[in-house]
Amino acid sequence: MTDRFSAIVAVEIDGRSSGSLRELTLADLPDEDVLIRVSHSTLNYKDALAITGAGKICRKFPMVCGIDLAGTVVESRDPQFRAGQPLLVNGFGLGERHWGGLAQYARVNRAWPFAIPSAFSSEQAMAIGTAGYTAMLCVQALEDHGVKPGSGPVLVTGASGGVGSVSVMLLAKLGYDVVAATGRAAANREFLTRLGARDLIDRAELARAPKPLESERWAGAIDSVGGDTLATILAQTRYGGTVAATGLAGGATLNITVMPFILRGVTLAGVDSVMRPREPRERAWHRLAGLIDKSLLATLYEVQPLSKVPALAADLLAGKLRGRVVIDVNA
Ligand SMILES: NC(=O)c1ccc[n+]([C@@H]2O[C@H](COP(=O)([O-])OP(=O)(O)OC[C@H]3O[C@@H](n4cnc5c(N)ncnc54)[C@H](OP(=O)(O)O)[C@@H]3O)[C@@H](O)[C@H]2O)c1
Repeated sequence: MTDRFSAIVAVEIDGRSSGSLRELTLADLPDEDVLIRVSHSTLNYKDALAITGAGKICRKFPMVCGIDLAGTVVESRDPQFRAGQPLLVNGFGLGERHWGGLAQYARVNRAWPFAIPSAFSSEQAMAIGTAGYTAMLCVQALEDHGVKPGSGPVLVTGASGGVGSVSVMLLAKLGYDVVAATGRAAANREFLTRLGARDLIDRAELARAPKPLESERWAGAIDSVGGDTLATILAQTRYGGTVAATGLAGGATLNITVMPFILRGVTLAGVDSVMRPREPRERAWHRLAGLIDKSLLATLYEVQPLSKVPALAADLLAGKLRGRVVIDVNA
């Protein structure tokens, strides 16, 4: 085992984080329970914010970026993990409070990893990653609030992105009538239709200040955009419908009235993936293993080397990427 390895490390420059490819040694890793030789990671929205400095994600510096990782155990203080076992870690502050997965090695707390579902290779697990696992949690939030296939159209915003594209795929697989909101309909119509969207709408239709109540359109929605988009969706949600809100790609402020809640019984269900306890987390991954069509998944991601991560982070925030990006950390 070599002592030196590569990682995307964020440092603070003039009050902003900036991530680049650096060399570390195993001795630099934090004193944690399980040493993992990472095979794949991914690029998520949060990673892009941390690497470009567009958002405050890292709680300390230097920080190894990457909120997801998949790899094999090298050594463990906890006997539940054995050398060579394939593991997955996502969330739990990885890449924010704790050194993350955009690296060839990681040392993590024993409470965070779990076995990669046997249905998936580590590359496929990372193609799903935090974005796809969050999409599963959003689908479950709709189900928990009674939104069923046949209830009516379900809107997915940010549909060309990570959370959005996997949400479209999962909802369609479950038999929902999926409408995708995107700013890139011309370029991505075929992509989104193949994933299962019945119709596409232009995201500009939603990115405006809404009336307190508008015509009822959506039985449910999965929103990773926030801001005016989320406000407009709530004003258009049908009686008894539910909106699962999980992101802020379009803004964090929510200017709404209580009308959708008190006159239409609409539910706004917040979805967090990061600190979700282990049992529902594993349940969501187990469900993904049963639902994901792997040939369709293959159309949804590209694989890139660690060295390209800084450029890809800028591309992600500029809206130039589609679906998911898996990072082969050893390429
Ligand atoms: N709560 C959680 O646990 C959790 C977990 C995962 C992700 N998230 C959040 O969910 C959001 C999306 O994450 P992601 O990984 O899917 O990111 P992503 O891959 O970059 O996708 C975001 C998509 O949103 C759309 N979009 C971007 N900027 C927009 C704007 N200004 N207005 C309207 N739409 C815009 C784009 O889709 P189109 O080009 O199709 O319009 C873009 O592809 C982020 O805020 C992320 O932090 C939260």
